[in-house]
Amino acid sequence: MNSNKIISIKKFERNGVWEAANRRLPAEPGVWIMRQAGRYLPQYRKLREKFQQFMDFCAEPDIVTEVTLQPVDAIGVDAAILFSDILVLLPPLGLSLSFHEGKGPVIANPLRSEQQVQQLKAVDVQDSLAYVLQSIKQIKAALGTRVPLLGFAGGPFTVASYMVEGGSSKELAQLKKMMFSDPKAFHSLMDKITTVTIDYLTAQSRAGADILVVMDSWAGYLNPEDYQNFVFPFTSKVFQAVKIACPDCPLLHYANGASSLLPQFSQLGADALGLDWRCDLREVLQSYPNQVFQGNLDPCTLFAPVKTIQAKTRQLKQRVEGRAHIFNLGHGILPQTPVDAAKAFVDTIHEG
Ligand code: CP3
Repeated sequence: MNSNKIISIKKFERNGVWEAANRRLPAEPGVWIMRQAGRYLPQYRKLREKFQQFMDFCAEPDIVTEVTLQPVDAIGVDAAILFSDILVLLPPLGLSLSFHEGKGPVIANPLRSEQQVQQLKAVDVQDSLAYVLQSIKQIKAALGTRVPLLGFAGGPFTVASYMVEGGSSKELAQLKKMMFSDPKAFHSLMDKITTVTIDYLTAQSRAGADILVVMDSWAGYLNPEDYQNFVFPFTSKVFQAVKIACPDCPLLHYANGASSLLPQFSQLGADALGLDWRCDLREVLQSYPNQVFQGNLDPCTLFAPVKTIQAKTRQLKQRVEGRAHIFNLGHGILPQTPVDAAKAFVDTIHEG
């Protein structure tokens, strides 16, 4: 009798992302793509046409369910990600948010003073974000055991950047101005976002999200010292609190252009860390032998001929051989990406 045999219980039909997020080497590699439900898919664009405002589109659980499942069916990814946005927290906090073609998010009443920060509303996520939690329940019912569902929220710094800048920004000058010249206002803002984010992520897990991602896309705008002093305490609080509230839910972290902050990120308490494409993956893997990573193909690789996509994906697989790894792009898939290219990436991850 083989008493040493480890029986691995397969939780999902496509288990690769789930296993790696749990820091185990998967039997088969798993892949998902940042922004995998989106404008590069014709079936997404067709549904999107029916809504003028992006936020109205995100607020319809039936639509959200359909859009969330599209890439699982169309390109065969090994995880679904809730179709929503990191900015859905802003309206409940009292900010006026709209999305404009070619311009992205616009906040009509950005925060510039401590007084404005103090006027932010307290948020009951069960109430004001009920539509997201309802979507998660419907998505889980529609997915069954096919693939895990990722929920997500923005990192407090990235969410703060939109609240203070009033939209996307190249330098984050307004946010840094507040950080350096009015640290009390900055801390108070970060504290408020942290509290809502913990509640929101916990509620997503309880509604059925299997894995949670904290997307602190713009953390890389900071040097390690400022990140450590101004951001780490808040982001790490999010990880610690959600881990205690949802001990069985793996937690991922993503930041763009931020490999200089890996020493800090590795202390956050995340199960896996996202990498963009600018870093040398071999060096990173060597420096962090026990850390699971996610990434890191350049999204623009998907504009190359299929043969090149295959070659670069095989090279990526070779580099992480023997390591638990979540395959992904280094940032979101671009709207102009051919669907066949996204599929070639996923198929190459899955080939023998
Ligand atoms: O498929 C998925 O990944 C799930 C959906 C998702 C969206 N946004 C949909 C979206 C996710 C996970 C996000 C996260 C998000 N949103 C981040 C963090 C990840 C990253 O990409 O760095 C950030 C910084 C945002 C903020 C945001 N939302 C911007 C800057 C924009 C405008 C630029 C753009 O991509 O259009 C959005 C709008 C947005 N969020 C769209 C989608 C599909 C496009 C809106 C539309 O279709 O009109």
